[in-house]
Amino acid sequence: EKQGFKHFMLKEIYEQPGVVRACLEAYFPASAETPVTLGLPEEFYVDLEQIQIVACGTSWHAALVGKYLLEQLAEIPTQVQYASEFRYAPSPLTANTLTIGVTQSGETADTLAALSMEKERRQGKEAKYQVRLLGITNRPESTLGQMVSNIINTHGGIEIGVAATKTFIAQLMAFYGLALDVAYRRQTITAERLTEIIAGLRQLPAEIEAILETQERYIEQLVHDFAETKDFIFVGRGINFPIALEGALKLKEISYIHAEGYPAGEMKHGPIALLDAKVPVVAIAMPGSVYEKVISNAQEAKARDSRLIGVTSVNDGEAAEIFNDLIPVAEVEELLSPILTVIPLQLLAYHIAARRGLDVDQPRNLAKSVTVE
Ligand code: M6R
Repeated sequence: EKQGFKHFMLKEIYEQPGVVRACLEAYFPASAETPVTLGLPEEFYVDLEQIQIVACGTSWHAALVGKYLLEQLAEIPTQVQYASEFRYAPSPLTANTLTIGVTQSGETADTLAALSMEKERRQGKEAKYQVRLLGITNRPESTLGQMVSNIINTHGGIEIGVAATKTFIAQLMAFYGLALDVAYRRQTITAERLTEIIAGLRQLPAEIEAILETQERYIEQLVHDFAETKDFIFVGRGINFPIALEGALKLKEISYIHAEGYPAGEMKHGPIALLDAKVPVVAIAMPGSVYEKVISNAQEAKARDSRLIGVTSVNDGEAAEIFNDLIPVAEVEELLSPILTVIPLQLLAYHIAARRGLDVDQPRNLAKSVTVE
């Protein structure tokens, strides 16, 4: 069943180009009349004023990327909350607030409890309160699928590894679909821009394949140097900040190494005190609005003797000088870059854990679906 891969996690990392293709076909079918097809009712979009998203773990990271897209493309104020926190301090409800629950399994107790509370407090109110509930899940047949009538199916296929990889990529694709759909209907982006972004999305499967083909061996070698490493820091900014969080979570979950993700600009407000030659820093530095800022934050880390690993499409003298190790990904539009930048981070976590001989697919203390609150 592992089809020649040593672990399900690695097999699932390699399935990601196919997952992106499946999502492209589902959300952006070339033959459709509208650029995006999500199958949601018309009433769903009317007078939408704000969005709140609840999720846990990796799904929460996907939601943070989603927030960025919904705010920057569709211009809708969006909040992301941990499901376990939202339940006890829900944001005030208005008729035009959409609540989204993101859960790949559709069975996470905290997310289900948050959504069921939300459903309950909307009951007895006007119809538009009822229609503004949405589930994003990889399992439409799950408890979530039965609880909420509006669903975006994420087409990740069954995921066996406890550490989510391909279902995360699929959740990101669902958010591109949703943000572009809402932006198109609200006309917050031009038709040309929409076409350009969708064309960019269609290139991603081949770009992921290129990273897998050219970088996996390199990363497998690179991890030899981290046999004794006890702490890792991941930094990114803008749309790649949640990817830094995700890189750190992947590493914690399967290698049991202490790892933290930060928005790169926050390092100087405290975490930089942790840095020395024993603490490597992984910096996501993609060209766009924050590239120069990330580079200057990376320089600050280097001045504290940290080994710097760069995930970037820039391969100029400056990048070569700053980064001790450089993991190249293709240059794509900044908004689309998370789909590529997360791939080396998944491989890094995987190879560190595999080299330590750990049970990558079934890490200690974790379960695939967390059905306790
Ligand atoms: O099934 P869900 O997406 O609701 O799961 C949420 C988290 O439990 C999950 O993402 C967890 O953090 C993963 N083990 C991450 O790899």
